[in-house]
Amino acid sequence: MLDGRRVLLIISGGIAAYKSLELIRRLKDRGAAVRCILTKGGAQFVTPLSVAALSGDKVYQDTFSLTDEAEMGHIRLSREADLVVVAPATANLLAKMAAGIADDLASTALLATDKPVLVAPAMNTMMWDHVATQANVATLAGRGIHRVGPAAGDLACGEVGSGRMAEPAAILERIAELLGGGGPLAGVKAVVTSGPTFEAIDPVRYIANRSSGKQGHAIAAALAALGADVTLVSGPVALDDPAGLRTIHVESAVQMLNAVRGELPADVVVCAAAVADWTVANRAPHKRKKQAGAPPPVIELAPNPDILATVSKAAGLRPRLVVGFAAETERLLDNARDKLARKGCDWIIANDVSEDSGTFGGDANRIHLIDAEGIEDWPLLDKTEVAARLAARIATALGAE
Ligand code: C5P
Repeated sequence: MLDGRRVLLIISGGIAAYKSLELIRRLKDRGAAVRCILTKGGAQFVTPLSVAALSGDKVYQDTFSLTDEAEMGHIRLSREADLVVVAPATANLLAKMAAGIADDLASTALLATDKPVLVAPAMNTMMWDHVATQANVATLAGRGIHRVGPAAGDLACGEVGSGRMAEPAAILERIAELLGGGGPLAGVKAVVTSGPTFEAIDPVRYIANRSSGKQGHAIAAALAALGADVTLVSGPVALDDPAGLRTIHVESAVQMLNAVRGELPADVVVCAAAVADWTVANRAPHKRKKQAGAPPPVIELAPNPDILATVSKAAGLRPRLVVGFAAETERLLDNARDKLARKGCDWIIANDVSEDSGTFGGDANRIHLIDAEGIEDWPLLDKTEVAARLAARIATALGAE
């Protein structure tokens, strides 16, 4: 899918550098040509020999090496690529990029390039959270530098927090997105629901739930990165619309259902939204007023349509693959199996949203994929990594038919 696309990979010094070796392998598997710059720090973590062996090219390390400059100057190096990827991107290299410092081959190539740049930061969580790093990241974002991660989790230094380099699969996904190179889901139409729904009580009040939309949005982005034609139907969330796909904004469950229906036929529908089970039957056309001495108003609830079940049972319009979520706080697997049967979908992604799981609004998710055949238990993963794996799994399922 990345046949003939040229990636300049800059590996700077961090323990995450070992993951860049896997990234090289995955890029090569997809047909990309990978050329690597290894900084002095990077060479403390991975050897030039392994980088050269995996990339199938020499490794560029020193601005002042006459041979390198004669064969391939830093200008050519940075321009003869379709995309420059910095993984891991240390706090130091991000700072140099923000300030325009060019004191080694990596920073010089970054200053000289006219190509899109993607950074995958990796550092200790205090360093990532530091105002200086955050200011540098904001500066780079303002200049159109693309970023993937960092993810939250256990860090090599023993601390826990944000700063772990994005997984190779997630970086690859962003690379594919930026290079727009077809993908295993090219020609596949996908619809993803995400976020909560708001059910109006009156024009100013509503009933909602704690969905952030992070997982659903990440799934939509991951499917798009694999080349799918994606429509994201999103309830109200505080997230930006993902790049490379169409987002339809809705508020209520009924609006969400109508938007999804309008997108059928589709090959795959993923219902990741936390749709409100009930809507307000006695919605007031005007703001309900407090009246001294009067009892509080009674809100009458009525069931909402079930979007997942409706899509799964849509005669003549049923997608080839329908995926639902089961957010449970107890009896996770039993409830999920039951849901698979009741709703008629093909897969249920079960996740624990009990208070101590940190799933709602958090960056990580531990899921179980349940289909007619059985259960797959996935490890605790960043939501973008869950999305990347799910998108790959969807590509396999649709390709296998
Ligand atoms: O029944 P429950 O809400 O637990 O089911 C969760 C799954 O069903 C999720 O995939 C959710 O997006 C979907 N759902 C839906 N419409 C509803 C309720 C749930 O699509 N009204």
